[in-house]
Amino acid sequence: MTTTSPTAAGSGANATQAFRAARQSSGGEVTSPERVSDVVQAVLSGVHEAIRAKKVTYPEFQAAKQWLIDLGEGGEWPLFLDVFVEHVVEEVAAETQHGTKGSILGPYYLPDQPKLPSVSTLPMRSDEKGKPLVFTGQVRDTDGNPVAGAELDLWQADDEGYYSGFAPHLPEGNLRGVVVSDGHGRFEVTTIQPAPYRIPTDGPTGGLIEAAGWHPWRPAHLHLIVRAPGHRNITTQLYFQGGRWVDDDVAQATKPELVLDPRPGDDGKLRARYDFVLEPA
Ligand code: DHB
Ligand code: FE
Repeated sequence: MTTTSPTAAGSGANATQAFRAARQSSGGEVTSPERVSDVVQAVLSGVHEAIRAKKVTYPEFQAAKQWLIDLGEGGEWPLFLDVFVEHVVEEVAAETQHGTKGSILGPYYLPDQPKLPSVSTLPMRSDEKGKPLVFTGQVRDTDGNPVAGAELDLWQADDEGYYSGFAPHLPEGNLRGVVVSDGHGRFEVTTIQPAPYRIPTDGPTGGLIEAAGWHPWRPAHLHLIVRAPGHRNITTQLYFQGGRWVDDDVAQATKPELVLDPRPGDDGKLRARYDFVLEPA
């Protein structure tokens, strides 16, 4: 391993830092004691029930305690929670959501990326590896009207499955940008096809996955937050038809409605189309 190769500790610490920064700018919410008690009791009851059902022993309890300490020290709470828990929070949020389906945010979003015109290439290295991909589409409201000036805040892994801002060898802002739709709600983004993402295997989350005999993979995906004034934001991900792990995502965050089907265009680049539907705020 070289000094610049991404580690669980590195991406975990960065993910924790990014999470704290986002929390500070959004401000805290006040939760009533009744709600705290109700939810925490339910979580604890679930844990108690698992201990009884599985006859968890003292050595297992102590091993779990050690693992949780390591998870915190490695800054891996965002990685662990976003892979194993966030998909259910999203499922509950989706119960009241119309328009384009959502998916998990994950730990690697960074706000305040540069705004780009409706026809753009995502910022990338001059020798960026990976198959060129032209991603086009239109943003509409639930009545079918085009939404001009909608923002598509895009971020993705590179051809090796790494995210800028979290893997030290990548330039800041690589494969991130906010594309603004034109007067007809349309956009055309040139990027590269991302690789599948593997949860870092050298930290506590990776250790758990290995100890349990699971696999650490997410299918290749584009991340998006689509927003426009007067409309509810959509946080989602788009996957690739036939891609490895689309049917077996460790984060259980795929949905059949969120799968792109890229085809080679006349210029040899892959082209994929996706139209977004935003509901009123
Ligand atoms: C994680 C990473 C991702 O790229 C993602 O989309 C979701 C979760 C993670 O490591 O927790
Ligand atoms: Fe991701």
